[in-house]
Amino acid sequence: MLKWYDQQVIYQIYPKSFQDTNQDGIGDLRGVIQRIPYLKQLGVTTIWLNPIYVSPQVDNGYDVSNYYAIDQSLGTMADVEALIAALHANGMFLLLDFVMNHTSDQHPWFQDAVAHPQGLYRDYYLWADAPAKQLPNNWGSFFGGSVWEPDPGATDQYYFHLFDRHMPDLNWKNPEVRHSMLEIAKFWVDKGIDGLRLDAFIHIDKADFHQNVPNQSTEPTIAEEFYAHLPHVQPYLSKFCGALRELKPDIFILGEAASASPELLIDYSRPENNQCNAVITFRSLVDREDQLDPQLPAEFQPKGLDVEGMKRQLTTIQTKLAGVSLPVLYWSNHDMARVATRYASPQYHQRSLKCLATMLYLQRGIPIIYYGEELGLENLQFSDLTSFNDWTVQPFYDRALAVGYSSAEALAMLNQTHKMAARGPMQWDAKQPNTGFSPATPWLHGTTKIADVASEQADSQSLLHFYQRLLRLKQTALFTQGNEIIQATPAGIFRFTRQLDQTAATVTCNLSNQPVTVMTDTTTEVQLLEGSVSHSGQQTTYQPWTLTVTQN
Ligand code: BGC
Repeated sequence: MLKWYDQQVIYQIYPKSFQDTNQDGIGDLRGVIQRIPYLKQLGVTTIWLNPIYVSPQVDNGYDVSNYYAIDQSLGTMADVEALIAALHANGMFLLLDFVMNHTSDQHPWFQDAVAHPQGLYRDYYLWADAPAKQLPNNWGSFFGGSVWEPDPGATDQYYFHLFDRHMPDLNWKNPEVRHSMLEIAKFWVDKGIDGLRLDAFIHIDKADFHQNVPNQSTEPTIAEEFYAHLPHVQPYLSKFCGALRELKPDIFILGEAASASPELLIDYSRPENNQCNAVITFRSLVDREDQLDPQLPAEFQPKGLDVEGMKRQLTTIQTKLAGVSLPVLYWSNHDMARVATRYASPQYHQRSLKCLATMLYLQRGIPIIYYGEELGLENLQFSDLTSFNDWTVQPFYDRALAVGYSSAEALAMLNQTHKMAARGPMQWDAKQPNTGFSPATPWLHGTTKIADVASEQADSQSLLHFYQRLLRLKQTALFTQGNEIIQATPAGIFRFTRQLDQTAATVTCNLSNQPVTVMTDTTTEVQLLEGSVSHSGQQTTYQPWTLTVTQN
């Protein structure tokens, strides 16, 4: 039987950057409520909010100090209740981000753990002895440096943090931790939310700390083999998700598994395993690596889309998940550059964005649209390093200058690739101060091209109107339920068929700057066409960044 979550279109809102209603330059929950009509008209059915709990904002809300209350910069509990009611009244759904791998170091559990080394909460976190002030091992944190930080209580121990040092990891081996986290999730389910996005769940089990990455480096090393996808992750997850399903059988659990291979996607989303309903992997996006400068870290070098690589990867994911779960389809999120900056063709900007959206969102799976993507919003351009408010930029910048790049070139690379540049304010109306986001200076500000709702609503050829048409098509039975075959096609062309009972459709996109000729497809009635095609006998030539969707 089809569930609500099998037919949804998710819209990801970074609450700080969507709509400010209390004029402090920070978006808020009242702003989200105000924009429900816009989202509904766009064709969105579900909203995923990045974390809204009380937080010192070291990592913009992913460092939670109280899971049972709303950060005062975003609103109040009454506002969330009003948001849930307003969404439900509109037939829409709400997913909250659930930060389960770590807390803030300001969380009372951690404060108690530090204050009372013999106390109950010490074992809520992960500690290792380091008598000679030697790091317990050489594992690296995702946010740089070691995963180990000295106990602020000045014992001979260090605590473990996979992300920022102000975000100590929870000890999921401790049954009290598992119980406490479940209680928090139940509290929110009782409030009436429809689902959760499980943040970084793949890290809740860690290997024995008495081992090192076998290398000669003196620097800490990223060591996923010791802290990602370890054997207890799935049992912990099954218990957690199973208990939530007892409370709410149709809860939608969306897992974030950044480094999950297609095989792991099966494990985490197979219904019999009672874990996630669907899983986000960062491995569905495939970048070109052929033009990288080996002198610089790859992370902050612009790369471009590897169309053939992505075709292979999506074919694998679609094949493995057929009959198992719905793949998650997205181009951007708050942890990466915006699609308009990362992959759009400078020559065919708007058409390329239409092609990219069509190629991905009409596939079998659940689309997640990152706020502003439907307008073609680009990354912010910061004019200096401090505006990123992120320590990762300085080492890259220094290195780039040391190997001969100018400071403008180094900054341009960061602006094009950095996650902070992708978190800029939504653009509602170019005629208003700060494009209608807030009358006050936005919490994060840089310059960016104007792509605003008001102008795009007035232009029937705009990307916004195209997204509306595309999402309407997506919500037809063929595109939500039909099976999918990705075809072998000449380089640059992405083509797949969807089929359900007697209906079938073919989606063909030329994702290149050159015309490409392919066999004419056998379906007939044109549903969507952008760009231009010409026919000759059995062959059709697609001009650069042209798309067709045909149906019989
Ligand atoms: C989130 C990041 C966050 C990290 C730590 C990730 O998976 O998407 O934005 O920094 O988890 O919570």
